[in-house]
This record gives sequence, structure tokens and C-alpha cells, in this order.
Amino acid sequence: MSTGSESQNSLVIPFNKPYIPEKTEQYMLEALRSSKHCGNHGWNQKCIGWMKDRYGFEEVFMVPSGTAALEMGVMLAGVGPGDEVILPSYTFSSTATAVLLNGGTPVFCEIEPDTMNLDPTRLEEVITPRTKMIIPIDYAGIPCDVERICEIADKHDIIVMVDAAQSLNSKSSTGKWAGSNVPLATFSFHETKNYSCGEGGALVVNKKEWIERAHFLQEKGTDRRLVLDGVKSKYGWVDKGSSYLLSDILAAMLFAQFEEMDSITENRGKIVSVYKDITRSFEDRGCISTPKPPQGTVSNNHAFFLIFDTQENRREFIERLKTDFNVYAYIGYVALHSFKKGLEMGYKPEDLPITEDLASRIVRMPLYADLAKSDHELGYAANAIQTVLSGIYPE
Ligand SMILES: Cc1ncc(COP(=O)(O)O)c(C=O)c1O
Repeated sequence: MSTGSESQNSLVIPFNKPYIPEKTEQYMLEALRSSKHCGNHGWNQKCIGWMKDRYGFEEVFMVPSGTAALEMGVMLAGVGPGDEVILPSYTFSSTATAVLLNGGTPVFCEIEPDTMNLDPTRLEEVITPRTKMIIPIDYAGIPCDVERICEIADKHDIIVMVDAAQSLNSKSSTGKWAGSNVPLATFSFHETKNYSCGEGGALVVNKKEWIERAHFLQEKGTDRRLVLDGVKSKYGWVDKGSSYLLSDILAAMLFAQFEEMDSITENRGKIVSVYKDITRSFEDRGCISTPKPPQGTVSNNHAFFLIFDTQENRREFIERLKTDFNVYAYIGYVALHSFKKGLEMGYKPEDLPITEDLASRIVRMPLYADLAKSDHELGYAANAIQTVLSGIYPE
């Protein structure tokens, strides 16, 4: 394996690098010195207030990860044994494990190639009388067609929760913020995301009647919230639940990035523009394809991907970028239905041929806010990508 030190170039362009605003240390120190380090204190409230004001979310629960947000959301939706939950196979394992942990059965739906998101035209094929929930994802920060998905779901009385792990601050083609136009949505603040605190997440609950119970699930199945709100004097055990709380120290770290959200998004956008420019001629020649968000979509520029014409060309691209230039690009998700757990559930790779094929040819490019701040580094990455593509696809 190459460590990078063998390369002739001293520059290394990693796949991701968390962005740390100047205010981060000050805010984290304040949180540390407050002696209130557990969940739902001042910095958590700042993050919650910020998201509710900016995006119009009904309620937000700050949780330890995007995975925890999914688990809590599936629990809140009341999924249990015998219930089926539809999700794309092209997603992170957490979307499926949240269903399994609640006793439900994941059922995989095909995706569409322009965005890699769940294909609403294929949804009704997998709906059965047992379908309780649909969890589409917003891949690469591009919102899925949630309006269309909700329309179908409403017809069948199915709950929709968007796994918006990657799409905070994106807008759908109808101008709605990701997570605002659906009963439930989840976000991730893992270090690989645009706005991050190491590990963290949020569950958005837009249905007023579900909010009180969500507090109980978040607080280990207790009605502690009612005590904090002055409704009761003593709290006790009322429901199932877990410890779905984010430490206030991490919330302080995250808040510093929320304050710089626009410039983070803009810097990422600058990189996406460069990548679009340098890949256009290869796309015109049919060698690769790039994301095609629906008209009017505003992306948070979470990721930029290329879909190669063959799996072998994908492999060569990643390898040559790494060994010749120290530039790190990665494959996307491995389709869940055709990996060990999916196969154990009875799926075969050919059950979702579109997902299987696209997942085997996709590559995600290096993308992080700081890369846009150095013309030298961005230029270096762009030149490396162009050189490797030209080598694989000579004129
Ligand atoms: C679509 C999706 N869902 C869920 C997660 C899990 O988020 P976390 O790492 O915060 O638990 C990820 C992580 O990358 C993701 O991409």
C-alpha cells in the first residue's frame, strides 16, 4: 500500500478534512467551563434554535450521530416486528440497521442514475400491506424527490422519514429546505459531513403530535422533559427509548460551523464548479457521467461524484490518482442488498440491477472547504484528475 511518501509530489490531497472555524476553541472552552456537559444545555439549544429559525423545522433533537437519529426516528414511527420499511440499497448501513434494531424488515427499492437517490417511479413495486415507513436518502447533498414520495406514501398511509445525513442546507427543486417538507428527517454531523462535530446528528420532527413522545425516547424512556418544562415535579419511566443526547461540548463545536455555514457551502461549491469544468469534455465523450440534480435544486455541495463507463476504469482512476499524485478519491456505498447481511436476508445482486451496476462504477472526489482556500492545492487536485482521466480516455 502506498503511504504517499514514495510519490514525487509533496502535496497530499485527502478525501476529506473537517473545517474548524476560528471560534471553535473559544466556544468549546466556554462549554467545558460551564460544567454543563450533558445534552440539551446551552449549546445544544443554540444549534436547535438556529436550525428551527433558518429551516422552519417544527422541532429538532440533537443526538449522538446520524445513526442514532435514524434509530430514534424509526422507533418514533412505531416500526416493529412484521413491519416493512422501504429504503434504497444504495445507502449507508445505518439506514437499514435502524430498521433491524426496531424489529422491522428493510425492503430495498431501486435508484435513479442522475442523482443516485430512490426512484419514486419504482416505489409502488415494493409497497405491500405491511409497509409502515419509507426512508429515502439525499445522496451527495442532492434532495430526493420527497414531494413525489410523500404523495405515494400518503395514498398508502405510510410514514416518510428522509435520511438527510448529507443534505443540511440543501433545497429541493420546489425551493423547500431539506428536512422541512416531510414528517421526519435525520441529519449527520459526523466528521465527513459539511458541518461536523466528530460524531453527532439531529432528528427533525415536523409533526406536532409526535414531539412529546420524541422527548421521552431521547431521555431514556423517561418524562424528564415535563419536569424541565415545569409540568411535573418528579420524572419517571414512561416509554422505551435510549440515551439519544449530544454532549454540549460537541454542540459548541458544531455551532461555530453553523455560524459559517454560508461560506462553507460556498467554498465547497467553488470546488464543485472546478470539478464540473474539468470533467465536462469526458462526459461529452461518454466516458463518465456526473450528478444531474433536478432543475432548481440548491445543493449544499456535499459531494461530487463520477460514474465511470466500466468498473475497471474506476479502479484505475482511484489507483493512479493515489499512487501518482497523492490525491484521494473513494468509491461510494457498497450496495446493501448484495453484501453479506443483504444476501442473508435473501437478496441476490441481480434483484436490483441498476443499483448494483451504478454502485460498482461510482467514485467520490476529494471535497472539503479548506481545499477551496488554496488555489495551489485545488489547481493541483484538478490537474491530477484531468491528467489521470486523459490517460484512461485518450482523445
Ligand atoms: C445516508 C447516511 N445515513 C446515515 C449515516 C450515518 O451517520 P453517522 O455516521 O452520523 O452515524 C451516513 C454516514 O455517512 C450516511 O451517509
